[in-house]
Amino acid sequence: MQSLDAALQEASAAVIGALSRYIPVATGAQARLFEAMRYSTFAGGKRLRPFLVLAGADLFGVPRAHALPTAAAIEMVHTYSLVHDDLPAMDNDDLRRGQPTCHKKFDEATAILTGDSLLTLAFEAVAASSGHPDAAVRANLVHALAIAAGAEGMAGGQMIDLDAEKKSGKLDLDAIIHLQRLKTGALIRFSCEAGAIMARAGDEARRALRTYASCIGLAFQITDDLLDHEGTTAELGKAAGKDAKAGKATFVQLLGAGEARRRAHALVDEAEAVLAPFGPKNALLRQVARYIVERRS
Ligand code: IPE
Ligand code: IPE
Ligand code: MG
Ligand code: MG
Ligand code: MG
Repeated sequence: MQSLDAALQEASAAVIGALSRYIPVATGAQARLFEAMRYSTFAGGKRLRPFLVLAGADLFGVPRAHALPTAAAIEMVHTYSLVHDDLPAMDNDDLRRGQPTCHKKFDEATAILTGDSLLTLAFEAVAASSGHPDAAVRANLVHALAIAAGAEGMAGGQMIDLDAEKKSGKLDLDAIIHLQRLKTGALIRFSCEAGAIMARAGDEARRALRTYASCIGLAFQITDDLLDHEGTTAELGKAAGKDAKAGKATFVQLLGAGEARRRAHALVDEAEAVLAPFGPKNALLRQVARYIVERRS
C-alpha cells in the first residue's frame, strides 16, 4: 500500500501540474495579475484540500482526470482565502508559505484582484466540460463549492472571526465551534464530499464522509491555532504568535493548549471510526486525519 507521504507528494504533483495549466505565465496586459496568481499558488503549501478531493474520489473509483479539475479548484479557492486573509484589513500578515504575502510582494489592489481571479477561475475549472463528463455532476459540484466558499461557509466564518476580535466578551465554546466550522470546516467539508458527488454515492456514504469532514475540519483549525501558539515562524512559514496579540477567538485561548490538543485528537479518533464501513480502502483518509493533528506546519 502507498504510504501517506508518497500519496501526498503524488497528489501534490498532479495538482500543481493542473494548476499550472489553469494559470499560465502571461505576457499580455494582465501579466501582473497572472504573475501574482502564480506567485501565491506556487509558493508551497501542503495541498491538503486537493489531496482530500483525490483520496475521496479514489474511494469510489472516480477516474483521476474527472477529479483533478475540482482538486485544483479547491486549492485556488483556498489560496484566494489566504491572500485575502493576509490583507491589512484582515489579519495584516507579511509572511505566507515562507514568502512575503501577496500584497507585500505586489500591492493591495493586486492582492484583492488575485483573490477575485483565483476564486472565479476555480468555478470555471469545475464547470468546464473538460472536467467531469456529466453536466449534472458539474452543476452539483459548483453548487456545493459556492455554498462552501460564501457567506454560509468560509467567507461567513471569516466575518465572525474578525467580529470576534473586536468584541470585549469572549466567544463561548459553541460559538468558536460555529466560527471554525464555517471558516475552515466548509472548504474541508467540500473537499471530502466532492468524490461522493462525482460518484453519485448514496446517502449513507455521504453521511459518513460529512461526519469525517466535520471532525477533521475542526481538528485542522484547532491544530492551526495550537501551532500559532507553540510553533515558530521558521517552521510555519507564517508569523507565529499572532492570534493572542490580535485577540482571536480560538480553542487555545478558551481552553488552554492541553485541552485543545486533547479535543483535536478525540476528533481524529471519531473521524477514523466513522470511515470503518469503507473497509481497507479508507487507509489514506484515516492516516491523513492523524497527520492533520500531528503536523508541525
Ligand atoms: C492555513 O491553511 C489556513 C487555515 C485554514 C487555517 P493550510 O495550513 O492548509 O495552509 P497551506 O495551504 O498549507 O499553506
Ligand atoms: C484563515 O484562518 C482561514 C482562512 C483563510 C479561511 P487563520 O487566519 O487562522 O489562518 P492563518 O493562521 O493566517 O494561516
Ligand atoms: Mg484569519
Ligand atoms: Mg490569518
Ligand atoms: Mg491561524
